Amino acid sequence: MQITVIKGTGRYLPHRCVTNQDMTRWMETTDEWIQQRTGIEQRYWVPEEGGVGVSDLGLEASRIAMARAGWKPEDLDMIIFATLSPDLFFPGSGCLLAHKLGLTTTPALDIRQQCTGFLYGLATADAYIRSGLAKRILLVGAEVHSTGLDISTRGRDVAVIFGDGAAAVCLEPMETDAKAGVLASCLHADGSLAESLMAYAPASRDNPRISEQMLREGKQYPVMDGRNIFKYAVRRLPEVTAEVLKKAGLPLSAVDLFIPHQANLRINQAFAKAMELPDEKVYHNIQRYGNTTAASIPLAFDEAIEKGVIGAGSTVMFLGLGAGVTWGAVLYRFPG
Ligand code: UT7
Repeated sequence: MQITVIKGTGRYLPHRCVTNQDMTRWMETTDEWIQQRTGIEQRYWVPEEGGVGVSDLGLEASRIAMARAGWKPEDLDMIIFATLSPDLFFPGSGCLLAHKLGLTTTPALDIRQQCTGFLYGLATADAYIRSGLAKRILLVGAEVHSTGLDISTRGRDVAVIFGDGAAAVCLEPMETDAKAGVLASCLHADGSLAESLMAYAPASRDNPRISEQMLREGKQYPVMDGRNIFKYAVRRLPEVTAEVLKKAGLPLSAVDLFIPHQANLRINQAFAKAMELPDEKVYHNIQRYGNTTAASIPLAFDEAIEKGVIGAGSTVMFLGLGAGVTWGAVLYRFPG
């Protein structure tokens, strides 16, 4: 039987550490409010003067992941790049990353699935690999939020949450009879809630797509009905957990570590409570990185491996919910 395994992982954070205290220079907020409502203490942002795009962060993370996998760029059959903050409106950042890796013909697919970009990317890569359409896939989740946030008091509910960063995983097939690799995935979307979390412009349904008036109104910035998204996440995450476990034919107790999207510490604590999970079974790092959207799950995964929390034989569940609204879960077991 052919399964999909993760051969190497890597992460990269820009150097500018922005604390909650730094936020108080730009907007009416407090360290106490941010920590109490979100768990976040700091995040990393690209240099204020610009010049660093999401493919640059993705490149650094990819180099680390590929070195650990023992791959060279020319070994890649495909790049999947998950981001909601592409370097350019088009073409996709996967194309830019391929170019930065020195590749000239390798296919590159961008995924615009926001917080679940890594989950959609992993399920897609698994399908390509198991069907034999590709052998070696580089999956990247990366974001540069900081250049697109309203850091005045008007945008404070959103601006304090988001961090920049990137993480990458290398995926390849393995021939085995063992129950391992990507065990099951469940993906969902409900566009009726699109306006609960969105950035309006540039909008192809408007002509022009972006105008001075739109800029004045802040239409280029993300807006969120935070309470609604919060409630929806707390309902959907336990549901999709049960769904993916059923698909894999495994009990909840088979999962060694849950790696949820890092959107809000309180959401993940509510998930743990609803599932009656002990604290050590749910991984958190939002305190240090904020919400890095498509990067958040692979970033936490890479960190958990490095810390030795998971390794050979461990079973991990990746799960999350975000803009779209999209949500999903993927179960992965390291080969023993
Ligand atoms: O990754 C994508 C998915 N996103 C999520 O899952 C996010 C889900 N939602 C959340 O994380 C939370 O809803 C937030 C952290 C965004 C907001 O927390 P909340 O407890 O839902 O607060 P709220 O939006 O209901 O606002 C409560 C109060 C308001 O003031 P009033 O109306 O009570 O006077 C806000 O104006 O807090 C105020 N507020 C702030 N105060 C200080 C909002 N943002 C801030 C801020 N600093 N940064």
